[in-house]
Formats: sequence, C-alpha cells, structure tokens
Amino acid sequence: MGSLLLLLLLLLLSPSYPRGGSARRRWGARTQGPGGPSPAPPETSAPFWVRISPEFKAVPPGASVWLNCSSSCPRPEGSSLRTELRRGDTLSGPGWVSYQLLDVRAWSSDVHCFVTCAGETRGATARITAYKQPRSVILEPPVLMGSEYTLRCHVTHVFPVGFLVVTLRRGGRVIYSESLERFTGRDLANVTLTYALRARPSDFGQPVTCHARLNLDGLVVLSSSAPVTLPVLAWSPASKALASTSIAALVGILLVVGALCLRKYLSMKSRA
Ligand SMILES: *[C@@H]1O[C@H](CO)[C@@H](O)[C@H](O)[C@H]1NC(C)=O
Ligand SMILES: *[C@@H]1O[C@H](CO)[C@@H](O)[C@H](O)[C@H]1NC(C)=O
Repeated sequence: MGSLLLLLLLLLLSPSYPRGGSARRRWGARTQGPGGPSPAPPETSAPFWVRISPEFKAVPPGASVWLNCSSSCPRPEGSSLRTELRRGDTLSGPGWVSYQLLDVRAWSSDVHCFVTCAGETRGATARITAYKQPRSVILEPPVLMGSEYTLRCHVTHVFPVGFLVVTLRRGGRVIYSESLERFTGRDLANVTLTYALRARPSDFGQPVTCHARLNLDGLVVLSSSAPVTLPVLAWSPASKALASTSIAALVGILLVVGALCLRKYLSMKSRA
C-alpha cells in the first residue's frame, strides 16, 4: 500500500479582507531606481525622458494605488495612461501627471504611461502586484490512527491562491508539496491541506512543519507554521487495517465538503 494517500484542499472564499493591513513586501530582484533616462533619442528629435514612479508596487487585493508619470519635456503635447485597471482621480502639475488606480485585484498588471513632446511619443511602464500574505499557517496536532498520521494544515486569508504552494516537512525534509495553480479565484481564500503519512517507528518525536509559499514572478513570500511533534506509534496489524478504512473515509468527507464549498462559491460568484 503506497501509504502516501492524498491531499486535498478546499477553498473557502472570504469576501472581506483587511485593507492596507499586513505585510507588504517590496519587489526584490527586479527593482531598479525609479526610472532612468530613456535611451538616447534619434538625433533629429529633442531628447526627453519619461518615467513612472513607483515602477513596482505590491498592494493587498482591492487596494488602490497612485502612479506618478513625469517627463523632462518642457511643453508636453499630451500624456496618457494605458491600463486594464480601473481609473480613479488624476492630479497634475508642471511636467507630471499622477493617476489613481482603484480596486487592484489582478495579481499582476502592467501600466504604461505615454508623453508626447515635439511630435515624438515616449512611454514608461510600471508593474502592480496584488497579493496577501496568509494571515496564519496552522498545522493541527497530528492524529495517529493505526499506522498513519493525519496531518492537517490550514492556510487562511491568502491571495492569489493559484500561486500558492503548500509543503509539509518532517525533520526539515519535504514529505509532500502541493501547488494550487488550478484555483483561479480572485478573492482571499482559506485552504486546508490534509495528508495521510505512513508512520515509521523512527518518526516518533520528529518535528513536522507546514509552509505556504507565494511565488509571484520573482516576489517570493514565505509563511510557516509552528512545528508539531509526531506522537508515539502504537503498532499492531489489526489497527493497521482499521486505519486504512478510516483514513479513506476521512478523506472522502473532506473532498465532499470541498466540492460543496466550491459550488457555493461559484454560484455566489455567478449571482454577483
Ligand atoms: C477563513 O479562516 C478565518 C480564520 O480561521 C475565519 O475567520 C474565516 O471565517 C474563514 N473564512 C471562511 C470563508 O471560511
Ligand atoms: C510627481 O513627480 C514629480 C516629479 O518627480 C513631483 O514634482 C511631483 O510632486 C509628484 N507628484 C505627486 C502627486 O507625487
């Protein structure tokens, strides 16, 4: 019996989330200073630069953000913004226009601003990422039934769930990892992963941890549970046989619950 049985997850959506709360991290690797001068222009036209600031911004889903598009053009003939995000207010002053973008929910959006100067148009691009670090990652105390431990990890209030990977480790080594990329919901989600681990006598006392990793195109956000300890093993062939049926039943129930919640979620969405 390949004791590695299952997993399973279910998603509950939560319509509300803390605005402006929790951890925001800056985009790491790709960040440069706020725009440098554009490449040298053709000799025939006046040199000018366009920059957008900030170039990278990570916000909680649903937040709004301001982007400032400025240029060195003494007399701009026009400026514009291209984005799929919803526009809010606009402010402007000499050489700059500041645009508000509302209700950012796409996990990643490119925003382009353009300025036309002496008949030439130049642009600059910013990237906005919406994400929410899990509010909590909780590994329940393992339940030992017969020869298997049931490990259950709850990851709450996370976004975007499609970029989430949940991993279980025993004594530091990965024992199971599940990517949730098939879930494309655009709301905060609660995810529960349940895993049946075949018990070995040497596991007693080993620490087990659960890790949630959001990998957003270069921005990696990690959260981990507190460690729990595997309880002592009571070994007998009879309890072993009993265990596999109860594990199978347990797993079945969780899957049903998951499917119901998902259906409820989808019907709520279609009504919305
Ligand atoms: C998600 O988990 C949090 C914390 O346990 C809970 O307060 C919230 O109600 C859950 N949301 C849903 C939709 O189950
Ligand atoms: C936009 O940027 C320009 C140039 O850096 C600056 O002078 C102006 O104050 C900024 N506007 C806002 C609203 O931040």
